[in-house]
Amino acid sequence: MELSQLVVQTCLDGVVLLRVSNPPVNAISTGVRRALLDAVEQADTDSAIRAIVITGAGKSFMAGADIRELGLPAQPPSLPDLCNRIENCAKPVIAAMHGVALGGGLEIALSCHYRLAAEEVKLGLPEVLLGLMPGAGGTQRLPRLIGVESALALMLSGRHVLAKEALLLGIIDRHVLLGDAAAAGVQYAHELLNAGAGVRRSRDAEGLKDHAAAQAFLDEARNVLAKKSRHLFSPHKIVEAVQSALGMAFSEGLTQERAAFLSCLQSPQCEAFTHAFLAERAVSKAPETPGAPPLPVMAVGIVGGGLMGAGIAVSAIDAGLCVRMVEQDDKAAARGLANVEKVFAGQVSKGRITQAGMDSALKRFSVSTDYQSLKDVDLAIEAVFEDMNVKKMVFERLNLTCKPEAVLATNTSYLDIDEIARTVSRPERVIGLHFFSPANIMPLLEIVVAGKTDAQTVSTAFEFAKKLRKVPVRAGVCDGFIGNRVLAVYRAAADHMMEDGASPYQIDRALRDFGFAMGPYQVADLAGGDIGWATRKRRAANRDPNARYVQIPDRLCERGWFGQKTGRGYYLYPQGSRTGEEDPQVLAIIDEERRRVGIEPKRFTDGEIVRRYLAAMINEGANVVFDGIALRPLDVDVTFLHGYGFPRFRGGPMKYADTIGLGKVLADINEFSVADPLFWKPSALLVDLVGRRAGFATLNNALS
Ligand code: 3HC
Ligand code: NAI
Repeated sequence: MELSQLVVQTCLDGVVLLRVSNPPVNAISTGVRRALLDAVEQADTDSAIRAIVITGAGKSFMAGADIRELGLPAQPPSLPDLCNRIENCAKPVIAAMHGVALGGGLEIALSCHYRLAAEEVKLGLPEVLLGLMPGAGGTQRLPRLIGVESALALMLSGRHVLAKEALLLGIIDRHVLLGDAAAAGVQYAHELLNAGAGVRRSRDAEGLKDHAAAQAFLDEARNVLAKKSRHLFSPHKIVEAVQSALGMAFSEGLTQERAAFLSCLQSPQCEAFTHAFLAERAVSKAPETPGAPPLPVMAVGIVGGGLMGAGIAVSAIDAGLCVRMVEQDDKAAARGLANVEKVFAGQVSKGRITQAGMDSALKRFSVSTDYQSLKDVDLAIEAVFEDMNVKKMVFERLNLTCKPEAVLATNTSYLDIDEIARTVSRPERVIGLHFFSPANIMPLLEIVVAGKTDAQTVSTAFEFAKKLRKVPVRAGVCDGFIGNRVLAVYRAAADHMMEDGASPYQIDRALRDFGFAMGPYQVADLAGGDIGWATRKRRAANRDPNARYVQIPDRLCERGWFGQKTGRGYYLYPQGSRTGEEDPQVLAIIDEERRRVGIEPKRFTDGEIVRRYLAAMINEGANVVFDGIALRPLDVDVTFLHGYGFPRFRGGPMKYADTIGLGKVLADINEFSVADPLFWKPSALLVDLVGRRAGFATLNNALS
């Protein structure tokens, strides 16, 4: 694009308006930097111009540095140079913000002399969420402007603030309640000129005057980070940079900031976070969507008001939809209603919504035992027991009751959706909507496209996910879809290690140290051991008799030790506590099982545990892509980031595999397969990629 198109200039009565135009979000690309620098220099030297207003065209001010350029060689002018040039202007420069002013966008605004923003604006320095830190003076100017405490809070969380809060904090000078920010910016420029106001530089602001208080906030931030963000790289660099702001001259602070920013930019964490950001945007676009506009969804039917049905209901009510629930009898209906009310009451007690908000939300909800209540719904979601016959019976009823164009969805975790679809007259309307528990909180939604599902049903499901603010991942039909299919394999790898000599506590610890929020045995205790036990019993008849089967989980379930809900599982939970204690009796049961099957326990290092667990996850992830169940490796990554607690700073299992090298993963699998060739079979996709010296990333571009 021509530079003149990237920054459009209009000049009237001595005030020039520079409007950055780089759709969709005015990312600050190399071209934008060049064009803005040229325009600012020209305006600063043009004696006919007395003030400069910088704004954004379209929906936003600027969303920050261009994320797609982050890995590329740097091109001049740099963003810090542009910001310094703006700040050094001899005539007043005003930032007029609307939409979003994030990252480098806010840093440009901070180097302007005055700032105003429309009410709905979102301001923030979200670099930390990309494994980065503000790198264009943000760590030096913001603390000087608003003090260390508030500046650190914004930079370490990446949180957005609205204009009202920004005004209170001192980030902006003016809050535009009505009308266009750009026009208000021009008017502000004239007012400043009329008042004889000159330039006013953020670098001269006095927010760091109380040195001792600022140092105390920095020390406190260091303590918190040591406990809460020990795995992360960039938050520590942010604190160091703010320390420089406190102890050094502005220009030296900028130099320190730049060096720290570059070290973040080159870190594997930045690559992983950026991959996650772009992957999340890629998964939200289904290949079926173009050309198949979604059907409107206003009313949703839910069959089954248990754990999942209630959570799904809350999620849909929260999205402003009308929800009608059907249960099997009056008692179950009353329980379904109570389940939904309980979730809302919990939100009221935590102060997330008001009682009035809860009452008004519940007006959009009704429960019945009569399927006729679903006759007008646009989408019906079945969330009854995980039993094929019960599900088929429910779909037969939905087929008779719902309007013909209604989408019929199942929340099954494992069952064959093609078989379910065969029970209805319009199988093209049947789809899987696999929510995760608790469904009103967990962001992931696997959208399972069955053999006959049509494009409009798929796009309706994706639009529904967007309304519910879920992260949709398109999956195909198989036992467990993407997430639970892969989970079954790495959980088995963990069980093998437990039987071979590692304790569940060591396994959990090693994986937490790797970055998982919880280890697999903590997760099992949280989810409830009975669910997995029922699945194992269901599959027992079809299990390969030669496949290794670890019976330790069954021994715990036989004792009724299902985890948190029964007060003990792998861990002990005395008096309903949620933090488990290690249980010597569990270790004794494990020892007994080892003796029973004749295993002499061996030692595992934490590194070995991580290596085996990840190899199992990556290998099955590759199988899922190879079989066409996941569209691309990035879909597996997003599934694990949003449904299974995979550490975001590692980008997802497939990204992690690319980071350590697929050759290494394959070598690990080949090594493990010597002892158990049936379990450790290298995926054909992995073998092929290693042979071609390619990574999973090469398969990500096909559709994104
Ligand atoms: N660079 C390049 N592209 C960007 C972008 C950016 N900074 N921000 C958003 N986009 C793209 C998205 O990839 C997406 O592209 P697609 O349509 O091809 O998928 C498109 O803009 C729309 O984005 P969303 O789908 O996310 O739209 P939303 O309206 O939901 O959200 C947003 C808009 C709030 C701007 C959100 O995209 C966002 O948070 N972006 C990231 C902002 C950010 O992190 N900025 C800091 C960058 S690092 C930096 O500035 C370093 C500096 O300190 C030196
Ligand atoms: P649940 O046992 O808590 O709830 C099932 C509900 O369905 C009960 O309230 C029951 O009364 C009702 N029901 C049974 N038959 C019915 C019928 N014929 N008509 C109307 N209602 C009927 O089970 P949960 O955990 O909510 O699971 C439901 C579905 O969601 C299952 O398919 C499960 O595999 C799936 N799922 C479960 C997850 C979990 O973590 N529990 C996660 C994701 C999916």
